[in-house]
Amino acid sequence: MKILTVIGARPQFIKAAALSRVLRRDNEEILVHTGQHYDANMSDIFFDELEIPRPDHNLGISGGSHGSMTGRMIIALEEILLAEKPDALLLFGDTNSTISGAIAASKLHVPIIHVEAGVRLGTLENPEEVNRVVTDRLSALHFCCTESSVEFLKKEGLSSTAHLVGDPMYDAFLFYRSRAPKISDIRLTSLDGGTVCVPEKYNYITCHRQENTQSPDALFEILSAVNSLSVPAVYPVHPRNRAMALSLCEQHGFENIIFCNPVGYLESIALVSSACQVVTDSGGVQREAFFAGVQCVTVLDFVCWPETMVDGRNQLVRPDKADILEKLRAPMTVDESYKPFGDGHSCEKICEIIAQTF
Ligand code: UD1
Ligand code: UDP
Repeated sequence: MKILTVIGARPQFIKAAALSRVLRRDNEEILVHTGQHYDANMSDIFFDELEIPRPDHNLGISGGSHGSMTGRMIIALEEILLAEKPDALLLFGDTNSTISGAIAASKLHVPIIHVEAGVRLGTLENPEEVNRVVTDRLSALHFCCTESSVEFLKKEGLSSTAHLVGDPMYDAFLFYRSRAPKISDIRLTSLDGGTVCVPEKYNYITCHRQENTQSPDALFEILSAVNSLSVPAVYPVHPRNRAMALSLCEQHGFENIIFCNPVGYLESIALVSSACQVVTDSGGVQREAFFAGVQCVTVLDFVCWPETMVDGRNQLVRPDKADILEKLRAPMTVDESYKPFGDGHSCEKICEIIAQTF
């Protein structure tokens, strides 16, 4: 088959790294990078470290409002679909690159394969939820990471095309963790350009969601909580809120937090795995903390990955210092036999089902 894959954002590069390797054994893959993420440490570093094939097309589309970005991507992806004439379009997750691909392909009757389908927060106020719901509605095949995603799709009448395969992020985590650097070998680049080592004991924090970065209040609460903990925190700052983080740092010091540039995936999974605790609003990082058995709190109003919310392993917190500190004091136990994200071979299963379906 000729499959056209659209990626554009950091977590999609990681999922594509796991899937492309398997997909290309029996299929021709045309890789399209929309350009949504474009800084070297948000894009190139993943292609280099994870040996992702170079994109066949890079649309160079980024920034602007949701509507502007999505509109420009639909126009460009339609042209590529018309020129490449793929048998199917493959999409990951819930970004603006995802929904753009779904709209462009559905109007051209190109069947859509959605990987990481069926995730639901239950609110259309979350911009990614809109992308998920529309993409799932337009897709011909839905690959779900967990049982809860299959259940959501059933409720929406999509059970006949939903397949529980496990999580490609878990495949990636297991595949790449042997290549992850030792913590003592990691050199962070601080936001002022200096080089910093990772302390022996540290917490890992990531925070970039629109919900937490629209005004400085939420980020201030999160940083205040993390700054007051007994070990320092490593915080790779997403470009979305770099200016806000720098300004809060200047105003409040936050000397117990190392503000640094985004790191590569191998560094990130090393940092998650050896952290004392994780504070995040990332869908990927909260799962990686779970994979590594590290306690996590997730700063969101809605549950994203219910399977992780057991035994004190991951809890929702409000962007509120007291709430974050209280939840971080909760006891945690890890049941090693509980593996809700599959067996690390979701990508093989996805490729088998694609071959049987088309
Ligand atoms: C997007 C996804 C989100 C995902 C995140 C992963 C949508 C709606 N959201 O959010 O689901 O969790 O990616 O990281 O698609 N920017 C740079 N350099 C870059 C990338 C972005 O400066 O390399 C700037 C952009 O110009 C923009 C801002 O960061 O102003 C936000 O980027 P955008 O791609 O719109 O959304 P994310 O917050 O990255
Ligand atoms: N990540 C990374 N470098 C960083 C921060 C995160 O490689 O500086 C990785 C992280 O380990 C996870 C993925 O990026 O694999 C998550 O992406 P992100 O948080 O941007 O998006 P989300 O998962 O929330 O959609």
